[in-house]
This record gives sequence, structure tokens and C-alpha cells, in this order.
Amino acid sequence: IKRVTTHSIQEMKNRGEKISCLTAYDFSMGGIVDSAGVEIILVGDSASNVMAGHETTLPITLDQMIYHAASVVRAVKRALVVVDLPFGSYQGNSEEALRSAIRIMKESGAHAVKLEGGHEIKESITRILSAGVPVMGHLGLTPQSIYKFGTYSVRAKEEEEAQKLLDDARLLDEIGCFAVVLEKIPATLTKTVSESISIPTIGIGAGAHADGQILVLHDLLGINKEFKPRFLRRYADLHTVMHEAIAHYVQDVRSQSFPNEKESY
Ligand code: KIV
Ligand code: NA
Repeated sequence: IKRVTTHSIQEMKNRGEKISCLTAYDFSMGGIVDSAGVEIILVGDSASNVMAGHETTLPITLDQMIYHAASVVRAVKRALVVVDLPFGSYQGNSEEALRSAIRIMKESGAHAVKLEGGHEIKESITRILSAGVPVMGHLGLTPQSIYKFGTYSVRAKEEEEAQKLLDDARLLDEIGCFAVVLEKIPATLTKTVSESISIPTIGIGAGAHADGQILVLHDLLGINKEFKPRFLRRYADLHTVMHEAIAHYVQDVRSQSFPNEKESY
């Protein structure tokens, strides 16, 4: 199989083909997501929520991100694997940012890293890029800044924040990021940004004009029952499927219908 690269992602935008992206955090899911044809698999710091049960993405550590990323990489044959630099591993110190990115690349075998923010982390991004590590940007609702925002609602609805986001997107394009995630912003702003920069925009809750889309795998599969923001489309109800399968197993063990003779040695 031909591997997806940062270059083939760019060519997709140039040809007007939409890019599909999903998160994954482990070997089993990574393999399924990859074989289904997704271009980019993000080992997101949403693992902090989805895998570890934290309320925010802030607690997950670099070591934990590397463990998730290495597990995913072992399963992936085609997709480009991008890994989130976790909170505290890159902000405000570009040398630490580079060290963190290098640890991810060396210890997980992933292909790129993602950082949240624009001009305020320019030095960190530049330093990582000059080491030959591809960088994906992330603007709009950046969950590592949740305590600054105070809410997970839509960002950049006002002119000032929208203009700042557009400036940041242009900066990320100029300094050499290969793509940028736009999270929870108005669809019209996504359109403006996508037409103003040459690199692909990957939207989540950002409307139809992004060059690609990304969702959290467990949300798409309906594994979390409670999380249902407007932007989410659920493609399965795995919560019910899994719950019923497991309840059935419990029932069979109790009634001694499992294991039967054929299932015994
Ligand atoms: O961590 C994550 O899952 C993400 C995507 C939602 C973009 O950053
Ligand atoms: Na993230």
C-alpha cells in the first residue's frame, strides 16, 4: 500500500479532494481506522478524556502520549500518524518543545506532531520544523486553554478573534506547518481561512468548507452516550452493541450455557 505523506495530503487539497481524519489511541482501533481508509490518524490528547476519564486534556503526560502513539503506529500501514504534544510539553520554551517532539518521533515512530496555538508558540513550531519534524497546527477552540476560555462553546464569533485566527492561520502556513486543525468556529470563517492559506484545513465543528474533517473515534462510534454536541454525527451505537453483548455473556455464564461442550477441551 502507498503511504499517506504530508505531500500527498497537500496534493489532495490542490486537487479539491476532501481529507478524512480520525483519532485513535491503541493498536486494535488504530488498525481498524487505518484499514477503513482514513488519511490521517491523530493520536489526540483527547486520550486524556476518552481513555483515562479526565475532565480535560491537561493531565495527560508526554510518556502517556508516547505509549498511545507507539501502540497506534504498530497497527498502521497507510495513514499518516500525527501525535498531540500534551499540555506543558511545548508552551513557552522552544527547546523543551523540540525535546518533546523528538521523544515522540523516536519512541513512537509517528510521522508528525500537533501543537495548539498561533503566534504565541511560533518559536516552538519553527524549532521543531527545523529538526525535520512535520507540524500540524490547531486553532479556534484549543482545549488545552479551556481554563482561559472558561467554556467549550464556539470560538471566533466576533470580528477581533476571527481576524486573529486568520492571521495565525497565515502564520502557520508561512512558517511551514503542513496542515491546521480548526476547531469549533463559524463555517464562514473556515471558508475564509481555507481559501486564504495554501495548506489543508482540517475541521471539527467548523462546517463543510474545511479541506478535511476530523472526529474523535469514540464519538463517531457512539461509545460515549452523553457527549452529543451539534457538530457530531454518530455512525454507530456501539455503546448499546457492546453493553448488550457483555450483558448477554454475563447471563450465559450465570445460566451455565457458556461454555458449552464444543467450547471445551
Ligand atoms: O485531541 C484531539 O482529539 C484533537 C482533535 C479533536 C482535533 O485535538
Ligand atoms: Na488534541
